[in-house]
Parts: sequence; structure tokens; C-alpha cells
Amino acid sequence: MLRIGMLTSGGDCQALNAAMRGVFKTVTKNSKEPVEFYGFEDGYKGLIYGKFRILTEADFSNILTVGGTILGTSRCPFKTIREPDEKGLDKVAAMKQTYYKLQLNCLVMLGGNGSHKTANLLSEEGLNVVTLPKTIDNDLWGTDMTFGFQSAVDIATRAIDEIHTTASSHGRVFIVEVMGHKVGWLPLNAGLAGGADIILLPEIPYDIKKVVDVIEKRDREGHRFTIIAVAEGAISKEDAKLSKKEYKKKLANSKFPSVTYELADQIFRETGREVRVTVPGHVQRGGAPVAYDRVFASRLGAEAASLILKGEYGFMVGYKNREMVKVPLSEVAGKLKTVDPNARIIKEAKLMGVSFGD
Ligand code: F6P
Repeated sequence: MLRIGMLTSGGDCQALNAAMRGVFKTVTKNSKEPVEFYGFEDGYKGLIYGKFRILTEADFSNILTVGGTILGTSRCPFKTIREPDEKGLDKVAAMKQTYYKLQLNCLVMLGGNGSHKTANLLSEEGLNVVTLPKTIDNDLWGTDMTFGFQSAVDIATRAIDEIHTTASSHGRVFIVEVMGHKVGWLPLNAGLAGGADIILLPEIPYDIKKVVDVIEKRDREGHRFTIIAVAEGAISKEDAKLSKKEYKKKLANSKFPSVTYELADQIFRETGREVRVTVPGHVQRGGAPVAYDRVFASRLGAEAASLILKGEYGFMVGYKNREMVKVPLSEVAGKLKTVDPNARIIKEAKLMGVSFGD
């Protein structure tokens, strides 16, 4: 009997179900021994507290196109994983206990950055772990692409697309705040796809004067509006000089809900222009996966299953230079894949006249 545990961890995204379906189909169709799938509910919490259900073919039917996760998910921060819970339970020991009690052969974890740190820890603790790269942020080390990203790019792009008409009618400056946590892949791609005039990324601190210059130049050239795609983690050159602690304190004491609103206020004060902010927020993580993500997540699922069938553990399945690869969890854990400010895509965008406020 092959017993496989599966869980989805951290913020959800599109194509989690497609990826799990890929694992299930591949294992059940190719295993020489009977297979049992255990689905843990709400991420690592399910493993800690033994909350699971047996998954059968019916669970994986009709889910390729469905967003979210059939297992539920939650954030279970790595930094407190070694701390006992409110009742004094040792979470790592509890996860191991559930795994051994159910006599699992392996655990499949679909997650992003923080979740990979825990997956690596469990692997170091002796569990057989295989992981899949999930996040709309595309910031996982060891893979050029994560599933969920392309779907989120499409949604954020549509938000920027649709702002164009109203921005043009009113002759306003519009700021669209795009998710991505501390990295700029999502705002960069959505900004380019949506034809934003200015794109502000965490990796390229902006100068407010440069942003204002672009707006005023566009005014002089007769453009009625300016659209700015701003990463939720964008940072000004001034703030980038602060220590991490100082910046955190500044954010905590700010009267603005996010850097985007502060920017809007600065632009209004500097230019007197009407400025509006749009925050698509979690809409970017919702709904059906686009075709790219359905295919990509299914392929990742099939590759993860192949590793399981060969008994190869301790890897994340990734995609590098157009090849499916297996990356040791120890290499993935704790590293971020950020946008290189000197990347060709940035240079190409600049050649086309896009400003990064630098
Ligand atoms: O990591 C995915 C993500 O959507 C980030 O882009 C965003 O910063 C964060 O999650 C939001 O987290 P939550 O869903 O916990 O509010």
C-alpha cells in the first residue's frame, strides 16, 4: 500500500486543485500497488492536529478549472513553528506523529516561500516530502515559474485595462496597487501587459520627483491621464535608506493604509492633479486558473507523482530554462527570487518609455 498525504499551505492561488489532480491521476494510474490519499485540511494545521480525510477519485473530478483549494489552507508561520501552541503542543512533533500514525510513505506540500521552510524542516526531520511551487507572487527560488502567477497577471492586467477608459474620460492619474508581497514580478508583468506609464517595484526604489516629472511631461504632451502600476511592496529611495526596523516603524505609524495611498497623496500635493487609487487585492488570487496555469500545474503534479513512484524525496518540482527540474528543498527554503533591476525585461520596458521612477 502506498499512502500519500497532501496539503495546501499559505495564501491560496489558482490551479492548486489542478496540481493535486495531476498528482492523484498520475499516481493512481501508474502505481503498481494500491494507493491511499490523505488530504490534510487547512494546511499544516491539518497535519499538526490530525485533521484529514481520505481522498477518492470523486474528490478530483471536475476540479481542473476550479480556483481555491478543495483542502482549505491557512498560514502557519515558520518563525513560530518550533514554539508550542496555546495548549503547549509541540507542533513539529505533532506533525511527525500524524505522519507516522497514518503510516504515510510521503507528504506532498503545495506552497510558497514560508511553507517551503517548514517542508524543508520536515524533510530534515526524516519525513519523505515532495513539494510544488504555488504562489501568485512568482518569488520562489529554484523555479522560473510558479502556478497561480499567470492567472493573477491576467486579473491584474484586466484591472489596469479597465482603468484606462475612466482615467481617460476624467483626465486623472490612476494608481493600481498590485499584489506580489516583497517582489515585483506580478506588478511588472501586469503593468507591461496593461500598458502602465509608470511601474513601481520593490526592487527599484522610486524617486517621487521622477514620478511627478513623468506625469507632467505626459500632461505637456497632451495625454489626458497617467496610469501607475504600483507593487504593494514598492518603496521610495528615501525609505530604502532606512533600516528594516525603522521602515517597519514608519509603516506602522503611517496614516496611509499602504504605500500606494501615500504616493497618491504626494502626487496630489506636487501636481494638484486628481488622483485615484484602485486596489484589486485578493481578486487577483481568485477564480478559475487560466489555461497556462491549468497545463503547468497539471504537469508539475505529474512530475511530483513520478518522483513519488520512484521513491525520490526531498525535492520541489520546478521549471528552469524550459525544463521540468527537481530542486533540493534545502536550496529552495529561505530564499527569494526577486526581479533583477538590470534584467532585459526592465531595459526593454524603459526603451519603450515606461518609467520605473528611478
Ligand atoms: O503570497 C500571496 C499574497 O497574495 C501576496 O501577494 C500578498 O502580499 C499576501 O499573499 C496577502 O496575504 P493574505 O491573504 O494573508 O492577506
